[in-house]
Amino acid sequence: MIKYLSKAKPKAIVGIALLRLDFNTKDDWRMRAVLPTIKSLLKTSCKIVIVSHRGRPEGGTLVNGMPKGFAVDLHLNNDALHLSKMIGKKVTFVNHFRFADIKDEIAEAREHTIFLLDNLRFLPGEEKNDPALAQQLASLADFYVNDAFAVSHRANASVAAITKLLPSYAGFEMEKEIVSLSKAIDAPRHPVVLILGGAKASDKLGVIGYFRKKADWFLLGGGSANSVLALRGFDVKRSLREKDPAALAALGSLAREKNVVVPVDFKWQKRAILDIGPETEKLFAQKIAAARTIIWSGPLGLIERKAYAGGSIAVAKAIGRNRRAFSVSGGGETVMFLKKYKLDKKFSFISTGGGAMVDFLAGEKLPGIEALKTK
Ligand code: 3PG
Repeated sequence: MIKYLSKAKPKAIVGIALLRLDFNTKDDWRMRAVLPTIKSLLKTSCKIVIVSHRGRPEGGTLVNGMPKGFAVDLHLNNDALHLSKMIGKKVTFVNHFRFADIKDEIAEAREHTIFLLDNLRFLPGEEKNDPALAQQLASLADFYVNDAFAVSHRANASVAAITKLLPSYAGFEMEKEIVSLSKAIDAPRHPVVLILGGAKASDKLGVIGYFRKKADWFLLGGGSANSVLALRGFDVKRSLREKDPAALAALGSLAREKNVVVPVDFKWQKRAILDIGPETEKLFAQKIAAARTIIWSGPLGLIERKAYAGGSIAVAKAIGRNRRAFSVSGGGETVMFLKKYKLDKKFSFISTGGGAMVDFLAGEKLPGIEALKTK
């Protein structure tokens, strides 16, 4: 059973909250998504200690608890400033990891102070799920809240090991993710349409496997489509396609299925497919119009270039026109794209997760969510 913050008795969540968030995006939509949790904790708990990560730091080290030699943009000082502007309240950035000193700083601070520690991935124990680091983090707080769905597919110290040491809750965004994504995988309404794009087919194999017998239609774009087209004998020339033998074997069996729809026309540049063409847009739109559950992961073209974003825009608009379907999408790149073209509000649910959403939709157990379960 997961304890949800939304259902916690106010007297259970007093004291200092250790709040795990995920600020690992180029823009601030993940930060925006967790504001309700921060605002709610400000009402009930006395102080909040936020922890997050950014990127995959390498090369640096800690000197007397101070991170040195890491890329400047991997530090979280700007996130503290940005969050503080968003909530209209100072966020105190802690630029070192001397935990005894941090504990003193927290103790001396005024009620309702919000702290943000620097990038947890500067600490070698974070990605090793090190119980010693979890212990240091736990020493700062009275209870723990995970509102970082996007990193919950990682067994990291601040995501998994920590829950053994503090009373632990799922934040508001985490709850929305679990409830909404479960709707798409537990008894989804038919027809179920999966739209899978992106550069690498291998990232999508879990979802394809899980939905193999559950989806009515697979609409493929990007690397998965090119690989299936090639397996069906079409010359994709220099287009991106899967090279990994295991992934190719899985795609090979998929290529024989009649409900796997690949593009019928394309936008080419220098002998490479960079987007789907207008006939494919129509074909995909027909399947989307009839769907009752729609899952979209990964762009269908090179969306960073406007000339090759048309297919993904057309598909997003077709999803928006179908008011009767439950539609979900996610992943950093796709969400930034949907927001840029103001199409995100057309979906029933937009996940903050990239890899986490894909794993969840593949029916996998996410370590960060499993760790929140109590008997
Ligand atoms: C993400 O952006 O998907 C999460 O923050 C996880 O990042 P990672 O793939 O570097 O673990």
